[in-house]
Amino acid sequence: MAHIVGGIFTSHVPAIGGAIARGLQEDPYWKPFFDGFHPIHRWLAAARPDVAVLFYNDHGLNFFLDTMPTFAVGAAAEYHNADEGWGLPVMKPFPGAEALSWHIIEHLVASEFDITTCQKMAVDHALTVPLALSWPGADNRPVRIVPIALNTVQHPLPSPSRCLALGRAVHDALASWPGAERIVIFGTGGLSHQLDGERAGFINKDYDRFCLDHLGPEPEALVAHSAVDIVELAGSQGIEILNWIAARGALGPDVREVSRNYHIPISNTAAATMLLETPATLSKAA
Ligand code: DHB
Ligand code: FE
Repeated sequence: MAHIVGGIFTSHVPAIGGAIARGLQEDPYWKPFFDGFHPIHRWLAAARPDVAVLFYNDHGLNFFLDTMPTFAVGAAAEYHNADEGWGLPVMKPFPGAEALSWHIIEHLVASEFDITTCQKMAVDHALTVPLALSWPGADNRPVRIVPIALNTVQHPLPSPSRCLALGRAVHDALASWPGAERIVIFGTGGLSHQLDGERAGFINKDYDRFCLDHLGPEPEALVAHSAVDIVELAGSQGIEILNWIAARGALGPDVREVSRNYHIPISNTAAATMLLETPATLSKAA
């Protein structure tokens, strides 16, 4: 069976991609955020994942408001990136773990998740920025990917408990995969932020701390709030925490926190990074 080695949770603010392109990691504005990735780089060097399963949200590159799947799973041999308007350098296509995608899709549909299956899917900053942060160096990512896009953009939003259940079903699919791949899970976006409207610039440190404290040991606490409650608590884009909740479900019950970082602001966002590892890492990386 596949080995789920751990989960990387991170904000995906597009300006981070701009800072990477300009080499600003040591700049005083950026350093407190980028420093949070040093423990992740050390951990990845030991954990050596082959595949990344990424829970993220598309921001109008592949899905626009006229066609908005609640949950969409990629099943492509490769995924192209494009500039959806932030002016970031376009990344080389990302190789897909196509057979594993189909295995996950088969399992999700058999488990009564009515997902959208995408044999062609462009991937935006919410997927590319976390990969660029995790493996610095142009186009130097040693993983094949399975992208899973959640609608965090347009109401009606999926419920947090359904997102946790989706992640848990992905966990079960990975547990029944016969391959020996080492798999890292990503949850991208958040934490609190609101980009427009009367509350533009809204940040909620108390709610962010609650999420960081409970995500590992007690993810059920995060799904006690409804999606609309979370929009109220975290801002209309802070609801991207749904991606973290799904990713947490995919890790399985037992996790240990390796590192966390929380820094305000990066652009309009309370920027956070967290690394959780599973018992599989402890036994296999040694
Ligand atoms: C910002 C944050 C996001 O999550 C995003 O998708 C776009 C912009 C920001 O803070 O600038
Ligand atoms: Fe976003």
